[in-house]
Amino acid sequence: MIILIGAEKGGAGKSTIATNIAVHLAQHAVDLVLVDTDAQATSARFIERRDDTQTRPSIPCVQKTGDVSSTLRDLARRYQVVIADAGGRDSREMRSAMAVADLMLIPTRASQADLETLPKVNDLVSLARGLNPELKATAVLSMAPTNPTIREVQDARELFSQFDQLTLADTTICERKVYRDALLSGNGVVELGNSQARAEIQLLAQEFFELDHV
Ligand SMILES: Nc1ncnc2c1ncn2[C@@H]1O[C@H](COP(=O)(O)OP(=O)(O)OP(=O)(O)O)[C@@H](O)[C@H]1O
Ligand SMILES: [Mg+2]
Repeated sequence: MIILIGAEKGGAGKSTIATNIAVHLAQHAVDLVLVDTDAQATSARFIERRDDTQTRPSIPCVQKTGDVSSTLRDLARRYQVVIADAGGRDSREMRSAMAVADLMLIPTRASQADLETLPKVNDLVSLARGLNPELKATAVLSMAPTNPTIREVQDARELFSQFDQLTLADTTICERKVYRDALLSGNGVVELGNSQARAEIQLLAQEFFELDHV
């Protein structure tokens, strides 16, 4: 299975979600590889820091830019799950990955600037489905305010009915310092002490995978 984490907006939490889902699946004995298609190498550097800890189980990581479709296909023959982190915004990497992915997760902040990019994402998904009719595309609200009096998340959810090519994950990823700490320390939030962040990643993964309890 090939999962692409991509978006039309930079800094929306793609690498955060890619690395956290990877660690969570690896904890459940899923044989996976993380593919960093971003020249900025956020995920690849995360894996280096993880290896430096010498305590966390290592996760295989491949860096590949440009047309990544054949690399993803090859890796999908060797691994149960391939997680591709697409950097920045609309890119050759993201488009070529969309041609072969089974699932695209689209981290989106519940802000106007992010939500305004969704019509374009919706069009890109429609285009990709011409080549890859099986592509599932699901937005994930990310970096959401934890303050329940802020209606942004609810407003964003209501907006989604407009996008015929996209579904919206039930799980929202909130803005929590532990996500930044995790990215910088080579950990997944499932390995750290914040039970709310851990639950978010577990619930998000549960929407797409049936994991054995280990
Ligand atoms: N849920 C969150 N809570 C707190 N901080 C977050 C969260 N998600 C991401 N961040 C922080 O926001 C910044 C951008 O996140 P990240 O690198 O995951 O985004 P990205 O979409 O991969 O960015 P790029 O477009 O540059 O690849 C990072 O410093 C990250 O630690
Ligand atoms: Mg990134």
